[in-house]
Amino acid sequence: MKDFVVAVVGASGAVGEEIISLLEDVDFGIKELVPLASSRSVGKSVTFRGKKINILETTHDIFAKLNIDIAFFSAGGNISSEFAPSATKAGALVIDNTSFFRMQDDVPLVVPEVNPDDIGLWKNTGIIANPNCSTIQMVQVLAPLHKKFDIQRVDVSTYQAVSGAGKKGMESLLSQTAREINNSNNEVLSSFSHKIAFNLIPHIDVFLDNGYTKEEIKMIKETSKIMHSNFQVSATCVRVPILRSHSESISIRFNSKVTAKEAREVLESAENIIVIDDISKNEYPMPLIATNTDNTYVGRIREDYFDKNTIHLFCVADQIRVGAATNAIRIAQKWVKMREA
Ligand code: A2P
Repeated sequence: MKDFVVAVVGASGAVGEEIISLLEDVDFGIKELVPLASSRSVGKSVTFRGKKINILETTHDIFAKLNIDIAFFSAGGNISSEFAPSATKAGALVIDNTSFFRMQDDVPLVVPEVNPDDIGLWKNTGIIANPNCSTIQMVQVLAPLHKKFDIQRVDVSTYQAVSGAGKKGMESLLSQTAREINNSNNEVLSSFSHKIAFNLIPHIDVFLDNGYTKEEIKMIKETSKIMHSNFQVSATCVRVPILRSHSESISIRFNSKVTAKEAREVLESAENIIVIDDISKNEYPMPLIATNTDNTYVGRIREDYFDKNTIHLFCVADQIRVGAATNAIRIAQKWVKMREA
């Protein structure tokens, strides 16, 4: 079995740090970890398996020079567009966390619980795209239900944590909250178009001509690409003052009657899903339950008040883990297995 040289581009960022921490326990051999970031991070280091490793600057020739086999990219779309081609040219598999390659026809977009076979399409370009964080947790829930009952339409409203905007997003919430509580004039960061402390903002990514935001269109288009489906989806994406787990209220219309009990049973046996749904004990998924875990939590599963074909549910997952780092790591693990098969 081969041991791999693994690079993390964006090693000093929120998702990059989490990828490095999850790499400590992967089921494939790592010969060397190469943390990469901008020139600003040169001189800083990361700790991996008890060893300090210096962060290097991301350059075009570093992938060939260090014989990198797998490169995780989470430094923003511009960095992926600029440097991923150099990584693939050097023979590396790129697992890209940005939206840059996601809708490119020859690039597979993968959630391992849903479309693991698409990983084999990495050969097209050397790149596998990691979906949008809100899409990942939603399709994990939709896929087993669609397989069993056939979905006609999905309407989702998200409650997205500030971690989706990286470390600066989290620092913005913390500094703005501290300023409000202390009634101070301390300087605050503002990663969002409005104050996020004690507020929520129904606006993530840019607005498009049709009135949707780009984040909402990502959820619509990525769902259909990952699930190879053509049912209708509409999304409303909202930023909320939560540090790092996204919640989603999802209404699913099926082509025939589905009971809450039937939906619950399917979800209880779905991979990496945990059903928390005991209203007699006030038990349901919440962001603090999901944070720092690799599961997607589902609850409040109930039948529509009027329509027998519609089920409503509430779903929560850690945006940095399930919505980004964990999904990327699961892709790598399956890719390694596929390669060795
Ligand atoms: P750096 O810390 O050196 O700026 P987050 O999503 O938490 O905001 O993190 C963004 C990540 O992307 C950081 O690791 C950041 O590194 C990295 N990054 C930003 N600009 C570049 C660049 N020009 N080249 C490589 N990495 C970059």
